[in-house]
Amino acid sequence: MKNNNGWINLNEKIILVTGGSSGIGARISQMLHRNNAVVVICDLNEADNWRDYASLFIKADITSPDAVNKLVAEVISRYGKIDCLVNNAGVNRPRLMYDFYGKNSTYQATEADFDFIVAVNQKAPFLCTQAVLPAMIKQNSGTIINVSSEAGTEGSAGQSIYSATKGALNSFTRSWAKEYGRFNIRVVGIAPGINKRTNMNSDENYKALAYTRGKQFDHIDDDYTGVIPLGRAGEHHEIADLICYLASDHASYISGTTINISGGKSR
Ligand SMILES: NC(=O)c1ccc[n+]([C@@H]2O[C@H](COP(=O)([O-])OP(=O)(O)OC[C@H]3O[C@@H](n4cnc5c(N)ncnc54)[C@H](O)[C@@H]3O)[C@@H](O)[C@H]2O)c1
Repeated sequence: MKNNNGWINLNEKIILVTGGSSGIGARISQMLHRNNAVVVICDLNEADNWRDYASLFIKADITSPDAVNKLVAEVISRYGKIDCLVNNAGVNRPRLMYDFYGKNSTYQATEADFDFIVAVNQKAPFLCTQAVLPAMIKQNSGTIINVSSEAGTEGSAGQSIYSATKGALNSFTRSWAKEYGRFNIRVVGIAPGINKRTNMNSDENYKALAYTRGKQFDHIDDDYTGVIPLGRAGEHHEIADLICYLASDHASYISGTTINISGGKSR
């Protein structure tokens, strides 16, 4: 259902959300749609219900330059412009740099783990952003939103590759804002902390993370009161609300920064 009377009105902005078929990306897409955006999602997988919250689904592997160029060309040919790109797709494989427990070498990072995580979390936002910039520069307007993670600034034991890609994304945010501000293009990041589970927090990833931290695989529904000042995991709609705000003209002077959305969790 669309919300025509709310404070945020995205006024038919054309917004491309990568990884919009599941988890946080799906919720972001739903909320953008509800606030009058025209949402295009791209993903490796097609969600059964994408028509409920998006105008177009394009199947694409965004680690491939050809696929990304085709994806953006299709959006431009259909709508004539692109107002906002949400670089949301991301992956994780919790791994130790060195398996000092010596009990399961599967959880020691390999070059393949590194390449996989860097390709989706760092290279794909580079490719997607480069592909939308010509249209945004021509329009003299646009917003790029990078979905980072609190781990990008805090670091994370057992997730160093993931953290490093998110730190790189934070740097992209700052640098791109400096390069493209002159074209009225805003670049912002958001950094969620611990949230309600998604596919990224699969049992396999929880098992891997538990191993890297010398814990049993039994902490999924932990009591977070000691870690998160607000005492609970984040809800996906809370992240989606922030994205709606950042994509809207209400955020017209916010650029070059990554906003933590973590219930106060930080060191
Ligand atoms: N889940 C969390 O607690 C959490 C915390 C902090 C940050 N984040 C970030 O939020 C974003 C969304 O994560 P999520 O938890 O919703 O994960 P998710 O696994 O539920 O969704 C990620 C989506 O990206 C898609 N995708 C992966 N590789 C792709 C590729 N090569 N091409 C196209 N699509 C691809 C997947 O198919 C999936 O639909 C990620 O950037 C993640 O790092 C998540």
